[in-house]
Amino acid sequence: MSFPLYAPAEEHDMLRETVRAVADEKIAPHAAAADENEEFSWEVYKALVAADLHAVHVPEQYGGAGADALATVIVIEEVARACASSSLIPAVNKLGTVPLLLSASEELKSRYLAPVAGGEAMFSYALSEPEAGSDAAAMKTRAVADGDSYVLDGTKMWITNAGISEYYTVMAATDPVAGARGISAFVVEKSDEGVSFGPKEKKLGIKGSPTRQVILDNVRIPAGRMIGEPGTGFKTALATLDHTRITIAAQALGIAQGALDFAIGYVKERRQFGRPVADFQGLQFMIADMAMKLEAARQLTYHAAAKSERAMHGESQKDLTFLSSAAKCAASDAAMEITTDAVQLLGGYGYTRDFPVERMMRDAKITQIYEGTNQIQRMVMARQLLK
Ligand code: CAA
Repeated sequence: MSFPLYAPAEEHDMLRETVRAVADEKIAPHAAAADENEEFSWEVYKALVAADLHAVHVPEQYGGAGADALATVIVIEEVARACASSSLIPAVNKLGTVPLLLSASEELKSRYLAPVAGGEAMFSYALSEPEAGSDAAAMKTRAVADGDSYVLDGTKMWITNAGISEYYTVMAATDPVAGARGISAFVVEKSDEGVSFGPKEKKLGIKGSPTRQVILDNVRIPAGRMIGEPGTGFKTALATLDHTRITIAAQALGIAQGALDFAIGYVKERRQFGRPVADFQGLQFMIADMAMKLEAARQLTYHAAAKSERAMHGESQKDLTFLSSAAKCAASDAAMEITTDAVQLLGGYGYTRDFPVERMMRDAKITQIYEGTNQIQRMVMARQLLK
């Protein structure tokens, strides 16, 4: 008889305590400034590397901590509870490297995963383009074979941590007439000649994590940097998202938990009409609903993480596509509602940058958009149900 894996083990609970302590002490104090100044915090990165929390999913054989998918979710959740931007360090390191874990040769894996595990390099994922967002297969970036090389040309857009990551998984068309089946995946290095970056996007939230275009101008790379076989890049890209949409759910859970915890503390302190506002049933019902939605999304996310872990170890990917989209969609919609309600509970104070909940509300919004909008998630779920 097999038991569900989604109940965290004692080790997961211990990990949560460790991450929360690091996040409270070393990450939370930088969160407001990272947002205000729109700067990536290298201090936070160093703190995550020192605690070995920056890329926990990398398997031990490549020098990593070998954390399972649920442990990775817990790390991202707890970092996001303090600072959503910082949670993109472990999340995007996973997003950039899962294509290698799923499809790359041993040579590529050992060469590129070890520096990520060691904290010497970060790894971003470059799928979207200015004209190819939801319709990712409509990409225009080309990779043309030339002897032992491929030459890449095109512009990737909305690339999280672009410019600060050393390595990029880049999807490009090697056979443009073949559509999705003509796309291949490559490792591109920041230092490759012809790679440059656009200016930082001016965003509503997650301002402490740079988002830029990655511009590829006649970038010649060895053919051995292709991840998997020619024409398999789009499948690798989507199979990756099946695993990593769960990390966006984790980020949403963390942001929402941060907002809920702050709001609970506030309503117990804030006095109106001669008593703490927490005494009023209208607010009590809001708090109860927030916690209920959060816990429901958390259980779905942990269940999806357990599926992801089993799929990584060879179990069928069946159901993972549905569950990861469901978790991402449910958790991000919950985070948007919960953070908006947290602002409401703080009233006028909640609307100011003197309190963290408005930042959390702005940060929550992106979780409904990236790694596939929630409309795309609903489309993916419906396709699974109806096929
Ligand atoms: N795993 C593996 N292969 C898959 C798959 C999956 N989950 N889903 C589909 N495929 C395969 C299909 O079988 C098909 O292959 P065959 O023709 O050989 O059968 C191929 O991929 C194309 O599939 P579709 O015909 O279904 O493709 P589509 O073009 O109709 O739509 C989509 C696919 C679901 C809409 C997809 O384009 C999508 O998910 N869009 C959203 C894009 C997205 O999520 N972008 C995120 C960017 S990353 C980001 O945001 C990160 C960040 O910064 C933090």
